[in-house]
Amino acid sequence: MTDPDTPVFPVVILISGRGSNLQAIIDAVGRRELPIDIRAVISNRPQAAGLQRASRAGIATTIVDHTRHANRQAFDQALQVCIDRHQPRLVILAGFMRLLSNDFVAHYRGRMLNIHPSLLPDFPGLNTHQRALDAGCEVHGASVHFVTADMDGGPVVLQARVPVEARDTATSLAARILKQEHRLYPVAIRWFAEGRLTVNDNGQVLIDGVNLNAPLQLPVPAEEAV
Ligand code: GRF
Repeated sequence: MTDPDTPVFPVVILISGRGSNLQAIIDAVGRRELPIDIRAVISNRPQAAGLQRASRAGIATTIVDHTRHANRQAFDQALQVCIDRHQPRLVILAGFMRLLSNDFVAHYRGRMLNIHPSLLPDFPGLNTHQRALDAGCEVHGASVHFVTADMDGGPVVLQARVPVEARDTATSLAARILKQEHRLYPVAIRWFAEGRLTVNDNGQVLIDGVNLNAPLQLPVPAEEAV
């Protein structure tokens, strides 16, 4: 029997590690706040803890181990075949730690999102929290963006801003920002699944058909900001 409430928007989620953002997405689906069907979770690392999170939630998991492919192109092709088997309308990168080839990115243009722990365009790449501290930033945060061939460089949709405290270390800042990542990502994914969030060929993000001139900011509850 078909449950009329069953979400039908198919997505595939790619991970490499811990999977806390994956968990936030699974939990939002469980609370019926996110109308998506997670068809599969794919990891490039066999030991990724996120695989267990997916299994616990009854989601199919697959490993496409990058070390077993001769080069990036071969890995990306294998990954693409694995993803497309599930016919997702959105591919969600949730801590997926691989650079992606241009062909792969082009194949999912306009339907692949990533979350990054900085206020992009500041601090693309790794070690964002330490770099924000070293740069003396007073505000730091997280961003959800469409994926393009530029690493962490695609059009930004939604951000959360967190004040940096004098006592902050990279670890304390990371923890505070991760909490906001877990709020941000389900919101942006929901907009996409509802057809409210799109990006055009010029890289212009639209929400409800209106051009976004700057990333939207998700308000951070005062008790979570410090
Ligand atoms: C997050 O900080 C995310 O922004 C970045 O990688 C980390 C993944 O963490 N892209 P998790 O695996 O979701 O816990």
